[in-house]
Amino acid sequence: MSVSRIVFTSLNYVGWGALDNLLPEVERFSPKKILVVTDPALEKIGLVQRVTNPLVERGYDVEIYTDVVPEPPLETGEKLVSFTREGKFDLIIGVGGGSAMDLAKLAAVLAVHEGKVGDYLNLTGTRNIEKKGLPKILIPTTSGTGSEVTNISVLSLDTTKDVVTHDYLLADVAIVDPQLTVSVPPRVTAATGIDALTHAVEAYVSVNASPTSDGLALQAIRLIARSLRKAVENGTDKQARIDMSNGSYLAGLAFFNAGVAGVHALAYPLGGQFHIPHGESNAVLRSYVMGY
Ligand SMILES: NC(=O)c1ccc[n+]([C@@H]2O[C@H](COP(=O)([O-])OP(=O)(O)OC[C@H]3O[C@@H](n4cnc5c(N)ncnc54)[C@H](O)[C@@H]3O)[C@@H](O)[C@H]2O)c1
Ligand SMILES: [Fe+2]
Repeated sequence: MSVSRIVFTSLNYVGWGALDNLLPEVERFSPKKILVVTDPALEKIGLVQRVTNPLVERGYDVEIYTDVVPEPPLETGEKLVSFTREGKFDLIIGVGGGSAMDLAKLAAVLAVHEGKVGDYLNLTGTRNIEKKGLPKILIPTTSGTGSEVTNISVLSLDTTKDVVTHDYLLADVAIVDPQLTVSVPPRVTAATGIDALTHAVEAYVSVNASPTSDGLALQAIRLIARSLRKAVENGTDKQARIDMSNGSYLAGLAFFNAGVAGVHALAYPLGGQFHIPHGESNAVLRSYVMGY
């Protein structure tokens, strides 16, 4: 009988209205200067302000960094890490899809390390992560990557992708509020939903699957299967958005603890080289890999 190593984030709030827990959680860290990492589209539609307004009204010093692009290249990570080191922040909040959250957790940890982000990449890096870094709160606005509960930060390189991984990249607090996903357009809802479904299916068939990850994966598959089409067809369907948020969160916990497989391995070059959104790369490859 084998032993499974199971790792969860330390504190998660999940459900409609979960964002109300942000202010009390921020107060726990008594931060002097907060950095919010997000993408420009979310600031434009006022979603970021829903997160930051209560903090600003309480008197916190909040800086918003919006220089995030989808499927972020290594250079975007290098720029943000330099900015974070210079800014003397003591709490990082990542708000967005996987792209913003991956960069936020990377910046929180590498803010207290030396060298370049490239030095810490899994495949080609030469340095090890040794310190926990700044506290971080992650708030997903897509139902897809599960990045809020994984220790992974994905970066696009010239022809593929690579990752920085360490348990220090795990969020101190994850806040998964489906209200924040209502504005996701249908195409992004579909792509990110397929990403979440692929996490759950690949975790379930993984050689490293365990009874814990199987439970998480199966419940994720149930929720996503009943609600992905509904969320794409009608973004204001509250129950569908709730199911998708729960589904992507559970799928994130499942694949983080069991691993992913062929679809993700083949999706990396498509995302890195051709900048195809991660969920769409998974979608085109899924049936071929599953068939094989
Ligand atoms: N860390 C992990 O465990 C993990 C797992 C899977 C994928 N990833 C990575 O995550 C990235 C992809 O993340 P993603 O699929 O969430 O997409 P994304 O973060 O790139 O966002 C996609 C688009 O959706 C928009 N968007 C996000 N939330 C919105 C909202 N609420 N309303 C309107 N528009 C919204 C963004 O502005 C962007 O244009 C890739 O780099 C991928 O490799 C990471
Ligand atoms: Fe994925």
